[in-house]
Amino acid sequence: MGYDVSETQKLLMLPGPTNVPPRVSRAMLKPLIGHRGPEFKQLHSDVLEKTKRVFETKGDVFILTSSGTGATECALQNTVDDGDKVVVTENGFFSERLTEAIRAYGGSPIVLRAPWGRTPKIDDFKKILKDNPDTKVLAVVYNETSTGATIRCLKELGELCARQDLLLMVDAISILGGDELPVDRWNVDVCVTASQKCLMCPPGLAFVSVSSKAWDKIQKKKTRRSYYFDLPMWKKYREEGFTPFTPSVPLFYALNEACDMILEEGLPRRFERHKVCAQAVYDSTEAMGLGIYAEKESRSYTVATIESPPGIDEGKVRELVRTKYGISLGGSLGEAKGKVFRVGVMGNVGSPEIMTTISAIGSATAELGFKVRISDGLEAARLTLARLPGRVN
Ligand SMILES: Cc1ncc(COP(=O)(O)O)c(C=O)c1O
Repeated sequence: MGYDVSETQKLLMLPGPTNVPPRVSRAMLKPLIGHRGPEFKQLHSDVLEKTKRVFETKGDVFILTSSGTGATECALQNTVDDGDKVVVTENGFFSERLTEAIRAYGGSPIVLRAPWGRTPKIDDFKKILKDNPDTKVLAVVYNETSTGATIRCLKELGELCARQDLLLMVDAISILGGDELPVDRWNVDVCVTASQKCLMCPPGLAFVSVSSKAWDKIQKKKTRRSYYFDLPMWKKYREEGFTPFTPSVPLFYALNEACDMILEEGLPRRFERHKVCAQAVYDSTEAMGLGIYAEKESRSYTVATIESPPGIDEGKVRELVRTKYGISLGGSLGEAKGKVFRVGVMGNVGSPEIMTTISAIGSATAELGFKVRISDGLEAARLTLARLPGRVN
């Protein structure tokens, strides 16, 4: 049998799920244990301690067996009472979903919009909060995965909320572990994320952190709409060392190993690596003659959104990149449909992944008839990647 591309190791450059390092995959092969016994109790306690270090919080973190949206539902169900005003940003597909979820949980969303590819700025937040002094929760998608735009004033938002009777709820699903988010220092009351992105685990675990200010609100909450995600029940079980419902033990093994890798690298170095890799994607994209969708000051370091060449559907670029070069890229959503494709720069990503992806994008767009400057793109990436911290280059 000759060469078979389907047998080639695939590279997931998606904005989730991301490549799971072999070390993390191997951890999942350990024999299964019961989730009500002493071994799980120890594993749970170890994993929680490490996860809190990744969240940079001394507050509570709960690990749910669900996708990221489960953590969002958990956050909302526990903190938003019927009729509560929730100021929510809308600048892409996932923030629009957040508004829908707020409504589903009885909240009254006050929408702060920004065009797709941009983010609301601190003065926009100040104004909407001033106009709505009875707001109970400020909910933001820190990194809008559909557009590759990051809200860069999150720290200031935390300061604003800390001074008022206002909770800051952050969807950090596509960014936590890849860019700065010191939960306690930035006064984030409720932070949600998921396992399959910068935490480089398979999908299936979701996380929610809870500050003491958020607990005060949770304890006073009148309406309860979910049994599975009821945090006071989770807290009660956690005090005994367990979860109220069956956890995905193999994913806990994976997370334990992934947290070790993250903490061995160190958060500052890890964030710098993501930033340099994302910058290499941006620099090479521009050098090749392609456009970037997100405004410059909001460009994400975990997902780069690239405009498809004029007249070429982004789906065709991705299909060629996947079938011919074995690399999966993210497609376009909502308003950006057909126009952009997305490169996930999440988790275990360094020079090999970035250079391979850039050359595949260059080759695919050339084959589709675009006059692309591949060698300029590779050179730009090489120069930027030379700034990578330590071992990874
Ligand atoms: C910012 C953001 N929020 C929410 C979600 C939904 O997460 P999940 O599909 O894990 O439920 C995603 C998924 O990509 C996301 O990027």
